[in-house]
Amino acid sequence: MRSRVLGLLAVMVVSSAAWGAVERPVVPVKNCTQGECHAKERNYKFQHGPAALGACDVCHMPADEKKHTYTLKQKDKALCDFCHVEKMAAAKVVHKPVADGQCLGCHNPHGSGVKAMLRRDELAKLCADCHKDVTQGRKHVHGPVASGSCAACHNAHRSDLPKLLVGQGRELCLGCHDQMSKQLATVKVLHKPMEGDCQQCHEVHASNEIMQLKQSPLGLCVSCHDPVKQLAESAKFKHSPVTQGDGCIACHTPHGGDLAKLMKSDPAKACLTCHNKAITMADKRVVPAVAEIADKKLSLHGPIREGNCAGCHTPHGGQVSRLLSKPYPETFYESFDVEKYALCFSCHDKQLVLLDKTTGLTNFRNGDQNLHYAHVNKTDKGRSCRACHSTHASAHPAHVRESVPYGKWELPINFKPTKTGGSCAPGCHQEFGYDRVKAVPSKSLTAPATRPSAEVIQK
Ligand code: HEC
Ligand code: HEC
Ligand code: HEC
Ligand code: HEC
Ligand code: HEC
Ligand code: HEC
Ligand code: HEC
Ligand code: HEC
Ligand code: HEC
Ligand code: HEC
Ligand code: HEC
Ligand code: HEC
Ligand code: HEC
Repeated sequence: MRSRVLGLLAVMVVSSAAWGAVERPVVPVKNCTQGECHAKERNYKFQHGPAALGACDVCHMPADEKKHTYTLKQKDKALCDFCHVEKMAAAKVVHKPVADGQCLGCHNPHGSGVKAMLRRDELAKLCADCHKDVTQGRKHVHGPVASGSCAACHNAHRSDLPKLLVGQGRELCLGCHDQMSKQLATVKVLHKPMEGDCQQCHEVHASNEIMQLKQSPLGLCVSCHDPVKQLAESAKFKHSPVTQGDGCIACHTPHGGDLAKLMKSDPAKACLTCHNKAITMADKRVVPAVAEIADKKLSLHGPIREGNCAGCHTPHGGQVSRLLSKPYPETFYESFDVEKYALCFSCHDKQLVLLDKTTGLTNFRNGDQNLHYAHVNKTDKGRSCRACHSTHASAHPAHVRESVPYGKWELPINFKPTKTGGSCAPGCHQEFGYDRVKAVPSKSLTAPATRPSAEVIQK
């Protein structure tokens, strides 16, 4: 520090070597800057009031006039608080060098190239004289720290807040991040920790993570949401984005937003950032693209219209294949058991496939014969819903499929609805019709001879 210099003062006899040819005046001069002896003490861009006035004697007094040696009138801060009384005001936190009266640790008593007579031309360098690099060499440095604006957050002398701060908690941050301040006031869903300190998640000076996060985004989120981590890791069927890359923030926004469960954007959009194209897995299995979920020309299944992918999927991982929340057959034919359709019947009435006669339960009936029952509820080769319905979206009413995969061929279903019924002519067999008002004379619903075999129909 500068005590070195203070020590020098008693003998402000600068050695003759340093003074070169200039001779020490024997008579006290009124103005020490006269004759350019000490012109340098007045040659600063920012000058100290008394020095500028040539009032050198408010701080210096002769020790030995003959020898032209000088001593300081006061020691340490007494030299300064003689005039700067207000700088001595009490506060909860006083910066150690200030409390110790080391005003000269930071200020040059005569003037300086920068305002406030600082000893360094950059504030951060001044702080760094005593504090080791607060960025600790980390990669991502906070804007105001990078620009050396330590004083934007810290008072140099004193403060009533800890760490000499100018503001507290999130208010300190929102003072500059005013856009966010406005956002937070209007969002519908606020992430609970946002009510507290931003420092739960962010470093203030610098970090090796993006956005000065305290940990990797994933590590940060699971530090509070351990159950999600447990689930994601223990699930029989895993969803890799939850535990890889940026993890949680692939789907969620960390601060707040207008969507339920802090979804980053409406799920169709959030999920489509990855699922707009097919994904080939390590075992070569292909997860088909689901671009249909955002296709405005199609009629979307209710929960998808509402952006509720989680109505059927377990986004963090789960116990049923295809990340489904409940069982649903993977195959075209399926021996009947209502539990196999638990997914659909978590929202729809299961009587749909349990009653063989009905007059109102379903529109898929011939007179009062329930054709859902007829197709699905069979111990041998019942058709699963997927035989006729697409799950996410379809161009047809009631989400009836365009076609069914048949070998390598997409077999058209040719569904034609009417006011009171409909018909389908699935390429491979004759047309069947049904009518709710005037039942179509019963053709056998047992399979025609040309019925495709289960092996050929793949889905
Ligand atoms: C506010 C008090 C104050 C005033 C006013 C002041 N000085 Fe100083 N001066 C000091 C202190 C303290 C030092 C010790 C050196 C340091 O800490 O930089 C010093 C050191 C010096 C030195 C030693 C060389 C150096 O730069 O370190 C000279 C010469 C000097 N002052 C001349 C002057 C002259 C000439 C004036 C008037 C134009 C003046 N001072 C006004 C406080 C003051
Ligand atoms: C004789 C009175 C006096 C003494 C003693 C004194 N100052 Fe000052 N100081 C002033 C005056 C006058 C100003 C100009 C105030 C203004 O411009 O508002 C000033 C201004 C300052 C400034 C502000 C400069 C700027 O650019 O805004 C600093 C910093 C300062 N003094 C530090 C010190 C330090 C450190 C000491 C002790 C070494 C000290 N002063 C001793 C009178 C004094
Ligand atoms: C740790 C460094 C440091 C120490 C020690 C320090 N100051 Fe300062 N001082 C500063 C900085 C930095 C500024 C400029 C603040 C700003 O720009 O907001 C400043 C500004 C000032 C100012 C002018 C602006 C104001 O706030 O009125 C005065 C006067 C002043 N200091 C006096 C003192 C006195 C007297 C002491 C000793 C009791 C002292 N300082 C100790 C860093 C320090
Ligand atoms: C002359 C040396 C010196 C300079 C220059 C200096 N500091 Fe300090 N600072 C200290 C000392 C000594 C402490 C007390 C350290 C401790 O208690 O471990 C301290 C403590 C602090 C603290 C912690 C206060 C608390 O309540 O725990 C902050 C914040 C701080 N300084 C910020 C700054 C900033 C910002 C600057 C630049 C404007 C700066 N310092 C310049 C010496 C200095
Ligand atoms: C965006 C605001 C902000 C800026 C800019 C900033 N700091 Fe800090 N600083 C803080 C906060 C908040 C703390 C308290 C951290 C805590 O409580 O753990 C702190 C703490 C400190 C501490 C005390 C560390 C400790 O462990 O006690 C020092 C020293 C410090 N800052 C120095 C600096 C220096 C030097 C700069 C400029 C290079 C700077 N700060 C810039 C907000 C800031
Ligand atoms: C003095 C004003 C100021 C304060 C106070 C402040 N910031 Fe900043 N912050 C900035 C600036 C300037 C940037 C850089 C913006 C840029 O690069 O676009 C920034 C950037 C950031 C970034 C990175 C943004 C990006 O796009 O890279 C984060 C995160 C951040 N601040 C968080 C905080 C937190 C948390 C606090 C409170 C501890 C805080 N800020 C306080 C001014 C401030
Ligand atoms: C629960 C943890 C958490 C909390 C609390 C938090 N953040 Fe963040 N913040 C993050 C994450 C994670 C990111 C990175 C988001 C990304 O990259 O998509 C981020 C990004 C940012 C960004 C840059 C991107 C943007 O949205 O502008 C700023 C600025 C920011 N945070 C400021 C703040 C402020 C200010 C606070 C306190 C009011 C705060 N954060 C509280 C986790 C948090
Ligand atoms: C400091 C602890 C903490 C951190 C870190 C944290 N959260 Fe939270 N989060 C909470 C609390 C508390 C709640 C509200 C209580 C609850 O629902 O568990 C919450 C709720 C949520 C919710 C549910 C919101 C709702 O409307 O039901 C989501 C989603 C969420 N956090 C995601 C994240 C993500 C993503 C991250 C990482 C960027 C994260 N959290 C980091 C504490 C945290
Ligand atoms: C960051 C990319 C990414 C995002 C965003 C994403 N996924 Fe995935 N998803 C994948 C990958 C990669 C797979 C392949 C399996 C694996 O690696 O876990 C997958 C697999 C799936 C599967 C399983 C398919 C199967 O046949 O096994 C479903 C269902 C799924 N995702 C639904 C969703 C939903 C719903 C969302 C939105 C809430 C979503 N995904 C968001 C990358 C993503
Ligand atoms: C693939 C997208 C995706 C990823 C990645 C993801 N989530 Fe979620 N998360 C969701 C969806 C969709 C919901 C809504 C579930 C609902 O509505 O029931 C949700 C809900 C939540 C909830 C609310 C409570 C609950 O379980 O329903 C929390 C908390 C949560 N997520 C935390 C996390 C955390 C922590 C991570 C990272 C480890 C993460 N999420 C990763 C999509 C995702
Ligand atoms: C009504 C239930 C339901 C809803 C709601 C739903 N899905 Fe699915 N999803 C399924 C079923 C069932 C499968 C399995 C495909 C199959 O068996 O034909 C599937 C498969 C997927 C697949 C894997 C592709 C495939 O065919 O294997 C992705 C990706 C997917 N869904 C994403 C989403 C997204 C994103 C949302 C929300 C926008 C969503 N799902 C909403 C039931 C649903
Ligand atoms: C999360 C709840 C939910 C689940 C699970 C669900 N659905 Fe739906 N389903 C709905 C809603 C809501 C509608 C829209 C009803 C409306 O538009 O009035 C709907 C509509 C339908 C329709 C069209 C009705 C019409 O008249 O247009 C069919 C067909 C359908 N669902 C079949 C299924 C099948 C097959 C499954 C199982 C794979 C299933 N649903 C799972 C909620 C669900
Ligand atoms: C053989 C083809 C076929 C199978 C298999 C099938 N459906 Fe349907 N479903 C239809 C047709 C055709 C309609 C449209 C009836 C109408 O509006 O004329 C329909 C309509 C619906 C509706 C709309 C309400 C109603 O009943 O009219 C729901 C919900 C529904 N089906 C659910 C299911 C579920 C759940 C499964 C599996 C358990 C399933 N379907 C299996 C052909 C089928």
